[in-house]
Amino acid sequence: MTPIRIVVLISGSGSNLQAIIDGCKSGQINGSIAAVISNKADAYGLTRAKLADIHTEVLDHKAFASRDAYDNALADVINQFSPDLVVLAGFMRILTPDLVQKFKGKMLNIHPSLLPKYQGLNTHQRAIDANDAEHGVSVHFVTEELDGGPVIVQAKVAIESNETAQSLAEKVHVQEHVIYPLVVQWFSEHRLTMEAEHAVLDNQVVPAQGVNYP
Ligand code: GAR
Repeated sequence: MTPIRIVVLISGSGSNLQAIIDGCKSGQINGSIAAVISNKADAYGLTRAKLADIHTEVLDHKAFASRDAYDNALADVINQFSPDLVVLAGFMRILTPDLVQKFKGKMLNIHPSLLPKYQGLNTHQRAIDANDAEHGVSVHFVTEELDGGPVIVQAKVAIESNETAQSLAEKVHVQEHVIYPLVVQWFSEHRLTMEAEHAVLDNQVVPAQGVNYP
């Protein structure tokens, strides 16, 4: 099987990027990262990419007059690397429908909640404030709806009585670093597709809440 080419988009620390770098290195993922693109020049993920000898690009959204102009330029940069898969790994921007359309079925996102709960920001605190018994993380295909595309996998963590947003985020991160490389692995093995707004894994339609991990 031909190894896939992956482009990863980040805005920050890049710990999920690191998990995918490690997954490529270990052979878990049948592919390699062609480029890491950040909208922030000081994102630590860029350092992680450089340490792994991966090409980096910075495309600062502040240099563009509009969201459309930025997303057009971003699509051009992504396409320079001819990716089979675009991975959003803490890329903290709302994407225009036009950009999403260009990469439909080949763009993944990770979101720190049990979607459809808590789209948007501050998900850990919102789950605590709502007295939820559990919280977690979802990996999904990207569609025009913010944090709303078909879920592929969810991993759950319990919310303890003394939980803080910080402690909960740490527990969720542990799960993120397992399920994101796993989903990229499936994609790289051609076992995962998006069809008619559903995720399909091994020829089975994935249920709305995704496959439960583990
Ligand atoms: C992750 O927790 C990811 O789930 C979240 O950003 C963090 C990035 O961490 N993504 C979103 O909130 C997207 N809506 P990282 O830079 O260490 O991978």
